[in-house]
Order: sequence, then structure tokens, then C-alpha cells
Amino acid sequence: MTALFANYQRFNFEIVSGQMVTLTDNHDKQYLDLTSGIGVCNLGYNHPVVKAAVQQQLDLVWHTSNLYQSSLQEKVATLLTAGSNKKVFFCNSGTEANEAAMKLARKATGKSAILAFDHSFHGRTYGSLSLTDNPGIKKGFGPFVPGIKFAKYNDPAALDQITDDLAAVILEVIQGEGGLEAADGKWLQAVQAKCQAKGVLLIIDEVQTGIGRTGKLFAYQHFNLDPDIVTLAKGLANGIPVGAMIGKEKLADAFGPGSHGSTFGGNPLAMAAAKAVLETIDQPFLDDVSQKADFCWYYLQKEIAPLPMVTGISGRGLMIGIHLDTKVPVSDVIQQLQQAGVLTLSSRGNTLRLLPPLVITGSELMQGINTIKNVLEEAIVH
Ligand SMILES: Cc1ncc(COP(=O)(O)O)c(C=O)c1O
Repeated sequence: MTALFANYQRFNFEIVSGQMVTLTDNHDKQYLDLTSGIGVCNLGYNHPVVKAAVQQQLDLVWHTSNLYQSSLQEKVATLLTAGSNKKVFFCNSGTEANEAAMKLARKATGKSAILAFDHSFHGRTYGSLSLTDNPGIKKGFGPFVPGIKFAKYNDPAALDQITDDLAAVILEVIQGEGGLEAADGKWLQAVQAKCQAKGVLLIIDEVQTGIGRTGKLFAYQHFNLDPDIVTLAKGLANGIPVGAMIGKEKLADAFGPGSHGSTFGGNPLAMAAAKAVLETIDQPFLDDVSQKADFCWYYLQKEIAPLPMVTGISGRGLMIGIHLDTKVPVSDVIQQLQQAGVLTLSSRGNTLRLLPPLVITGSELMQGINTIKNVLEEAIVH
């Protein structure tokens, strides 16, 4: 018997504690975590700096409302905008960040249509779900927000759909839920150029790719892009619920007093955690992530790519998709890996998804990849 809705398909164990990249379940079994709680605990579990910041804030005050000044919000916003004159709005999740982006884009441009891409995932509330291309999770929930169009991701022909009636184009530079497809840099730049030429805002959803996951604070920085709006959540406060929308200053008038808000948005505990996260993820930290990721990709190419059931490996940095032949169902592989003491995720198209905490060491990455290799070699072919 459960008093919970069955909307989550859960494994039959519970994680009861965690220390950096190791999780322990209710049977005292330990796991090497390659999930970060779906890209959230980028600094691992029980990170001392984040924990101390939250504990310190807990002793001061843990909720104040947005009726008063917030030096913590100011500080986190400054860290996120790195000296540029962009503005930040705080909320509590990725879907809320995308709702805010959608509202801001519509109000600032006076237009309503938005172009999203196939296999996108932007969240589960009505605006974000309307921008999401996944029939399975949309079934039965329509009608959706009007004015949303879809184009083919990574396809030059999609540029023709960027027309001046659009308020915005929204995309992920790597589709986290959509099968770890990474956009081509030239295509991304062409999308941005077309948006600029047509007076269309470019929104980049960095909810999964952001906060150091790919070796840069934001994945779009690999491609020299300059999005009008960026959305964040997941890793920003390492597990304390938070979301954020960063927008260019030219959009600020559309979000004047009373225009948008959230009771919990920018909550002091979340802001204390986010400040600690952003101060920890400095350039040397990011360089270290890049170095580990280079090693990880080398090792994946050497050990995993040649396996007969592996049809490809995609992603970037420590955001990795191992594409498996459908004869080896990813759900089976995930369960066998759990038995072998490694936690992993899936993504669209029978893809094994790895989002290890960024604090993982090279030898822990090797251990994880070796276990994946062993499990795949023994996989039952259906
Ligand atoms: C790219 C992307 N956008 C938005 C979301 C929604 O975030 P949340 O679950 O915090 O609402 C997710 C969640 O997986 C995501 O991966």
C-alpha cells in the first residue's frame, strides 16, 4: 500500500545517506553514483562548503518573502552574470525558469509564437510542457499553450522556421532527456544569427547542461553564443530546490514590479547553497572537470565504444549518453548496474545516461566505466 500517486516509477530501495560520490541505501549497500540525482548534486553529496553555508543560513533565517531586500540574491545574481549587466529572476525549479522565460519573451517582444525542437524537454508545467516534444508525457493533458511550433533539432532546414512573427526560439545545446544529442556549433551559431536578423529572442535552457556539467559554467559558452535568456535549476544549489532565469538588460522593463513572482523564489537557504556552489565552481574547478572529462571520453572510446551492443556515445564533458542496441534494454542494464553497485540513468532511445558528480575522481570514473563494461559484456540479449 502506498499513499503516493504512482507518477514516479521507483526502484525498490531507498537512498538514506551520501558522501561525495558514494550513496548508501536502506540495506546498507553502497553505490558509486553516476547520476548526481539527475544532474543536481554536481558537487556530490554532503559537500562540506555547501553544507556549512546552508547550516549557517539555517541559524539566521530560512524564509523572508520577496517583499524585502536580499543581499544573498544580489550576490548569486552577480556571480551568475559575471560582471555583465544582465538581470536574474529566481524561482524553484527548471520548469518555472522556463515559464518565466516564456512570459518574459512574450511580454518583451509583444509577440506570442515560440519555436522549440523535436525531442526537447523543458519541464512539466503547462508552458514548459507545451515547449516539450515528448508525446508520452503529454498524452491526456492537452490542450496546450497555443503558438508553439517545433522544428527538427540540428537541422539546417529548421532555420527557415525562424520567422519574424516569433517571440523566441528555445533550445538545449545538448538534449539531456532527448537522447544526449549535442547540437552542432555551426548550426547553433546560424540559429542565433537568424534570431538576431529576425528580431527573435534566443532562449537557451541550461537546466541540465549548466553549472559546470560540460566543463564550462554554461554549455553555450563552448560555442561563443550570446543568448538573450538562459534558464537554470538542477545543479545551481546542489540539491536545495532553486531555479533561475538570466536575461539581457534590454528585457528588464517587461519584468517590472508586480509582473512576475514566486513565494519561495530566491529562498535564503537556496541562495546560501547557490552562492557556495558558484564560489566553488571557479575556473580551476572547471579546468579540472574538463581534464577528467577528456580522460573519461578517452576511456569510454577505448573500453565501451567497441562493445557490439554499443551503437554510439554522445554528449559532452561529464554529460554522457551510451547508445545501446535495442536488443539490450537500457532498463535491464541500469538494474544490473545497481546490483553491481553503480547508479546510472536512461535517456530517450535506449540510451544509458551518465551524469556523475563533477567531484568524481579519474579512478572512480574508471571504476564506473569498468563496471559498465562488465555488465554490458554479460548483458542478456532480448
Ligand atoms: C533541459 C531541462 N529543462 C527543464 C527541466 C525541468 O526541470 P525541473 O524538473 O526542475 O522542473 C529539465 C529536467 O530534467 C531539463 O532537463
